Amino acid sequence: MLDKTFAVSISAEELEKEVKRVASEINRDYAGSQPVFLSVLNGSFIFAADLMREVELPCEISFVKLASYQGTNTTGNIREVIGLNIDITERPVIIVEDIVDTGLTMAHMLETLKRQNPSSIDICTLLLKPTKLQVKLDVRYCCKQIPDDFVVGYGLDYNGFGRNTKDVYTIIQDV
Ligand code: IMP
Repeated sequence: MLDKTFAVSISAEELEKEVKRVASEINRDYAGSQPVFLSVLNGSFIFAADLMREVELPCEISFVKLASYQGTNTTGNIREVIGLNIDITERPVIIVEDIVDTGLTMAHMLETLKRQNPSSIDICTLLLKPTKLQVKLDVRYCCKQIPDDFVVGYGLDYNGFGRNTKDVYTIIQDV
């Protein structure tokens, strides 16, 4: 794809199994409550769609983005959560993410969402690269930990391409 060669690293069958496992953990842990799922676009759209169909709780879902813009103050780059159309005050929140790499995106998102006083926030990610983490992050739900390689498919992209595959692919060669 484009200028890179990729090979299947996580099959559709394995993804399905892991998504079901994580959904059943959420069903168990959140029994009796009504969580708000926040699916972080674009990368989590397929994961969120599959996960939500396995969640048996009364729940809501909102699709959000982290937008960056250059601030006018000295802190420089400001990132805000856009698209959040549900009041999360005193609500349990589960962030649905495609992949946690350095963890900086999730750290920013946690910080921003906490200002709205949710009763709790958990992170649910499809993939996690533990060796790349730069911040201390409590990732409660994770379908699969992977090595520090670039992956595409099942919602994840390489320069906008590759989101529409059933399997996850890992880069094997820079052409
Ligand atoms: P972080 O802030 O470094 O944790 O980066 C998280 C974001 O980077 C993810 O939501 C993805 O959009 C992107 N990303 C990180 N690693 C990969 C990868 O291997 N493939 C595709 N996107 C990635």
